[in-house]
Amino acid sequence: MMRRLAILVGLTGLTAGHAAAQDGAAVYKRCAACHLATGAGVPGAFPPLKSNTASLAATPAGRRYLALVVIRGVSGPITIGGKPFRGMMPAQAGLNDAQVAAVLNHVLKGSSAKPFSASEVAGYRAGGTALNSAAVGRLRAGTGAK
Ligand code: HEC
Repeated sequence: MMRRLAILVGLTGLTAGHAAAQDGAAVYKRCAACHLATGAGVPGAFPPLKSNTASLAATPAGRRYLALVVIRGVSGPITIGGKPFRGMMPAQAGLNDAQVAAVLNHVLKGSSAKPFSASEVAGYRAGGTALNSAAVGRLRAGTGAK
């Protein structure tokens, strides 16, 4: 009985890990509508998700900003790579902490950024419940990222 339980727990763990890896690309489909499949963005409208996200992910303030952009949305004015953006990204409703982590890790693939975990995202979510998209936008200047 114990042995069967252990096997079951082991299997569940495997499936969960696999699902998380797949989730990043699957969740990113909803981002691609604006940021494009490549993450190149559209000048003046939708920012790129390349070196800007990698440099944001290198600091605690930047990591908090990245998670809250997805959870709470973001609106300008913000400056990204020297270019002004005055758009509005709606909060990506319905994503749980593991899915937010997975989609950010998908965006950061190929960079040297430390991967996001679901529990890291949970902490940012809990501390950001009072922020609207404009307040998230104002956080960007304090991250020191370009
Ligand atoms: C409806 C269009 C839309 C969708 C869908 C969308 N975004 Fe955005 N995103 C934007 C806009 C517009 C901005 C810039 C807001 C501004 O102009 O102030 C932005 C900004 C960002 C930023 C900030 C970049 C920086 O350097 O400050 C990140 C990160 C980001 N989006 C990631 C995502 C991810 C990940 C998803 C999917 C889970 C997603 N976005 C879905 C429109 C969108």
